[in-house]
Amino acid sequence: MNKRKLPIAFFDSGVGGISVLREAVALMPGENYTYFGDSANAPYGTKSVEEIRRLTLSHAERFYRQGIKALVVACNTATSAAIGPLREIYTQIPVIGIEPALKPAALMSEHPTVIVMATPLTVSAAKFNDLLGQYSDRADVIPLGCPGLMEFVEEGSLDTPQLRRYLQELLTPYLEKFAPDAIVLGCTHYPFVRPLIRQIAGERVRIFDGGAGTARELQRRLKMENLLSDPSSQGSITFDESLPEKIGLCRTLMNACI
Ligand code: DGL
Repeated sequence: MNKRKLPIAFFDSGVGGISVLREAVALMPGENYTYFGDSANAPYGTKSVEEIRRLTLSHAERFYRQGIKALVVACNTATSAAIGPLREIYTQIPVIGIEPALKPAALMSEHPTVIVMATPLTVSAAKFNDLLGQYSDRADVIPLGCPGLMEFVEEGSLDTPQLRRYLQELLTPYLEKFAPDAIVLGCTHYPFVRPLIRQIAGERVRIFDGGAGTARELQRRLKMENLLSDPSSQGSITFDESLPEKIGLCRTLMNACI
């Protein structure tokens, strides 16, 4: 069997991980991708670590049995809760996680002020505290848990008056109090509402997300393991969803300009 032709599995609690998949497809169009969103169990960001770990491990086992050459956990929340056990179990394939892109934001200028938007689980996880510790002398970092934000993206509502009001109420006190230089989108659903966040935060604030960095890390690991497809080969993308009615939204988001 030619292992290089096996698909790369992308996993998220819903449709958000498509913001990472898009980056991978742009970088490596000749690969075969299979995307699974667990929208039936979303949101993950307000569940317990144990519950997220149980869900993530059971989906990972299913992908692994189907035959995949790499697993991308395109979900900051599932990465926080389950990347350790996943790497212990699936030692035969690269297992790539995602974390808030604090590094490029913290290094963008002399001691910037950075707001990190993420799910309640991500900002309270030990992994995020370790990340904060690494950059605490380089930047002032303000975590901002955003319960309810991913649900707008799950509904496909990317620019509605309700979403605008939600973001204004959430962000305005932080923008006024901290006058941030940067905002990190620490949940893979949030890049889909970047244009609205941009409008509310203003042009001066730089906005970062971890999608492109994660795609580059995937490419680096595939190359290292000699698993990259022939660049001239025809790639494919298969969408799978625990709520099959979301597959149309997956395709729309894949083609949306972000
Ligand atoms: N997309 C997920 C993340 O990156 C989480 C959304 C959720 O299920 O709460 O954290």
